[in-house]
Amino acid sequence: MTRGPVDSCDVLVDLRTRALGQAHEHHAQLESTNDRAAAWAADGAPHGALVTADQQTAGRGRLGRAWFSPPGQSLYASVVLRPGSDSPSLGPLALAVGLGLRDGLLALGVPSPDLKWPNDLLVGGKKLAGILCEARWSGRTPEITVGFGVNVHTAAFPSELQESATSLARLMEHPPGRAEVLLALLAGLEPVLDSFFASGFPAVMARYIDACVTLGREVRIGSHEAPQEATTATAERIDETGALWVTPEGGGPQTRVQTADVWLIAPSDAQRSR
Ligand code: BTN
Repeated sequence: MTRGPVDSCDVLVDLRTRALGQAHEHHAQLESTNDRAAAWAADGAPHGALVTADQQTAGRGRLGRAWFSPPGQSLYASVVLRPGSDSPSLGPLALAVGLGLRDGLLALGVPSPDLKWPNDLLVGGKKLAGILCEARWSGRTPEITVGFGVNVHTAAFPSELQESATSLARLMEHPPGRAEVLLALLAGLEPVLDSFFASGFPAVMARYIDACVTLGREVRIGSHEAPQEATTATAERIDETGALWVTPEGGGPQTRVQTADVWLIAPSDAQRSR
């Protein structure tokens, strides 16, 4: 496939943000853009500093998993955030990031992007993008790295992702280049982060809930590492801390879930999870 110059993220023309991406480093290859951004933050990178790479050799996902990061096919980006010591609780930050990136995908014309709690971006039940937020404290001041990976041109996934992943190339007749995707995502993310840092998760919670496909659904809750221990429940609500409240199968009091893998159970077939 021939790709235009906007596919490369080394120079970002038409950046529409106040802070995100205004300082920018691009690398042909990195172990992980999150690691490079954290190192740059420790070295004084400003709020909004952006690291991109064409390839990651040790891309990381949530809960210590690997993130498929082949050269030139996907977007790998990390942003340094310095919300200040008086910022609201950062627990639900990843949910706000998901919402901002979803706004960016909508602006690109991606059909019906959904948020699966806490922060997977799905289209048609398949994962298009993932988010990894990591925080360190320098005294009382948080220093955050928000990393996101978006499958842009990916035509072939490894067999274990075949059923669960998708890409813009699979979803759109004329998929945008990676730089165009990045610019739209940063433009979507910035106002949501501004609201979040000014007023906390309640400021964006209604929009998050509106976009979240997990609520009202039957789900399996557990971890990929021990799927046999997962339990079935109904996802009821999301609270102001970003936690998910579920009613266990068979009834009983609602329980609060803060970090877990959640699989949606297809309404048509309660035995088949995706
Ligand atoms: C997940 O869904 O598990 C989160 C995936 C996050 C992947 C991105 S790619 C850019 C950044 N660098 C990393 O090593 N991980 C994040």
